[in-house]
Amino acid sequence: MAELGVEVPGLALANPLMLASGVQGGTAAALHRVAASRCGGLVSKSIGPVAREIYPGPVCVESTDSVVLNAMGLPNPGVDSFTEMLSQNEFSKPMLVSIFGPDAESVADIAKKMEAAGATALELNLSCPHAKPGSRALIVGQQPELIKEYISAVKQAVGIPVYAKLTPNTAQVSTEAGAALEAGADGVSLINTVSALEVDPYAGRPIIGNLLCGMSGPSIRPIAQRKVAEVALAMRRGEIPTAPILAMGGITTGLDVARFIMLGATAVQIGSALIYGDADVFGEIENELNEFMDVQGYSDLESMRGIALDTMEGLN
Ligand code: SIN
Repeated sequence: MAELGVEVPGLALANPLMLASGVQGGTAAALHRVAASRCGGLVSKSIGPVAREIYPGPVCVESTDSVVLNAMGLPNPGVDSFTEMLSQNEFSKPMLVSIFGPDAESVADIAKKMEAAGATALELNLSCPHAKPGSRALIVGQQPELIKEYISAVKQAVGIPVYAKLTPNTAQVSTEAGAALEAGADGVSLINTVSALEVDPYAGRPIIGNLLCGMSGPSIRPIAQRKVAEVALAMRRGEIPTAPILAMGGITTGLDVARFIMLGATAVQIGSALIYGDADVFGEIENELNEFMDVQGYSDLESMRGIALDTMEGLN
């Protein structure tokens, strides 16, 4: 069996398969349920300054095969309720706590409260693709200066590692990755959902309650792979600081995990696969990854990491 353990700042993972933010990570019960699976780690639902209700539905639809559309509205219990839960619970897997806020001061305040409640690493959600035009949430992850402001504020507020969760909805994601890392981020997570819109022709209106939405599911995996490669290549060339990449976007099999590791990812996050199945999917993906590595002769993740980038060095 291949060695699948991986260490990234703030998290020692038994395998590189983490729960992605947003799918099951809003309550203690859901997090314990996923932790009991063979996942390597958890990422909580994104937690903001105050409790938010879910948007009027439909909030999540598989519109065609492999295309998952959602606009949930960042529903969450709010930082005070979440930190109370955090300090009363011991989870059996390492957890990245995802946070968001309307401005740098707010996210710094949330980060401090999470650290005090025992969080060992944070993921700062800088994007919200379904947000309406004009919303600050739409623009933070698309503006390197704002990314720097948010990351710097959080890094000054806490001593624990901070990962920047990046949007794919920009011209060149290595620019935003560079901004986050130069401001002190300890790693980057990518990609969040792809900006999308779908119409129900019978109803004559968009199918998602919020109208605008984000797209995930297996159909976005090649987009995610390209974005991860852009960031990993920029790191290789020394154009941006080197740091762990937590990759996500449509992963449903062990082969998908291998693809992202070969493009330079250190670990991966899995979200929409849990829409199709339950948390047992982590065990199935781990088995597939193990089998693939055994057959192909990879003894550990390090021997696979980044090998697909070797043929791409010359790309701009
Ligand atoms: C949502 O809760 O609507 C999704 C949040 C996100 O895409 O970051």
